[in-house]
Amino acid sequence: MNPLNHVAIIMDGNGRWGVKNKNSRNLGHKEGLFAVEKIIKQTIKRDIKYLTLFAFSTENWKRPNIEIAYLFKLLEKFLKEKLSELDKQNIKLKIIGRRKFSLKLNKILEEAEKITFNNTKLQINLALNYGSKNELIDGIKLLNKKNEKITIKNISNNLYTKNIPDPDILIRTGNTKRLSNFLLWQLAYTEIFFEKKLWPDFNEKDYDKIIKKYKSIKRNFGNI
Ligand code: FPP
Repeated sequence: MNPLNHVAIIMDGNGRWGVKNKNSRNLGHKEGLFAVEKIIKQTIKRDIKYLTLFAFSTENWKRPNIEIAYLFKLLEKFLKEKLSELDKQNIKLKIIGRRKFSLKLNKILEEAEKITFNNTKLQINLALNYGSKNELIDGIKLLNKKNEKITIKNISNNLYTKNIPDPDILIRTGNTKRLSNFLLWQLAYTEIFFEKKLWPDFNEKDYDKIIKKYKSIKRNFGNI
């Protein structure tokens, strides 16, 4: 059976769920947060060490201001209300992405990372203002600055995901089959699962089904 250390998720479909069920895209995001909480719990239950969640992409800035503002408010509220619980559960929070947020949100994010820094049960990487192409540009610039050789190891070590093993599983909900500029370098040998359900409808059972399927796959990594 394949070891499972890292699951990455593109949580797609909130907007469609919201329009269909509540006549509001934003209420779809609110509902999506309940699915986030369910999946965090299940990740701990399955003893998986890393969970990377795509919460806001560099391309999401193209959305209407009212939706962007709602998403960041939701994040702020989530951290305010749940940080101590996450900390109690021994969860470490790490933000990946270019940090260009309001001073207030920056402070909240830094504080959350600081408080949970030494936690060991599960590391949640929250991808915020994240774009894989920007990550590669930032990483290669760093590498140049330090005069390091261009090698696979050195590139990996200069990405936001430094010291984090590559994802074993990528899940994308929402019935769309694309990577949307998410972890392009890190997904080189990841098993990819496209799920028809919209993110707010995705539950522990769906997650377990994917995990079970993943465990039975023969992973060759180019070998035979
Ligand atoms: C994609 O669905 C989802 C997002 C851009 C935001 C994801 C945010 C959450 C799940 C809630 C907030 C999370 C945290 C951790 C605070 P979409 O809006 O692109 O859906 P659509 O394809 O139906 O339009």
